Amino acid sequence: MALATAAMLAGVAMAGGHGGAKKMAATGPIAERQQAMKDIKSNFVPLVKMVKGAQPFDAATVKKNAEIIAAKLQASAKLFPEGSDTGDTRAKPEIWTMSEEFQAIMNTAIEKAKALANVSSPDQLAPAVMALGGEGCKACHEKFRKPKQK
Ligand code: HEC
Repeated sequence: MALATAAMLAGVAMAGGHGGAKKMAATGPIAERQQAMKDIKSNFVPLVKMVKGAQPFDAATVKKNAEIIAAKLQASAKLFPEGSDTGDTRAKPEIWTMSEEFQAIMNTAIEKAKALANVSSPDQLAPAVMALGGEGCKACHEKFRKPKQK
């Protein structure tokens, strides 16, 4: 019990120190947000498979994955600091020139992910996944993400 608490506190301390650190490398937030997005995708894909019937509906998995997506979206919102639009990134400059809209879509995506976490029956799944995918992922990527460089 005491050990678990100590470990947890150590984890919290590290998380806090990391985010507040001034010596963040130029590529730091870019790599971190790309990793967050990758994690978001890997949690989203199984839910899309459930909609398609390629994977059986499981409310516990929906809840768990959707909660991770919501948390990672929330975290990624802080990983777009001013000036991180150059380098190995597909982030469009509009993220900073139209930051209110970017934030609005981010908030919508977080809301939709939270709503998805509350899905308890298979018939609720498709609309909730579509809402997150369409009004969240797709809406933001179309406006604020550059096409893949070949
Ligand atoms: C509010 C904006 C926004 C939302 C919402 C959003 N993304 Fe992204 N996503 C981005 C941006 C911007 C990038 C490019 C980041 C970069 O290259 O620096 C990105 C990159 C990605 C990548 C590529 C990561 C890499 O570099 O390998 C994946 C995969 C991805 N997003 C999946 C998703 C999924 C799935 C969702 C919805 C569940 C989602 N995103 C929601 C803005 C968003």
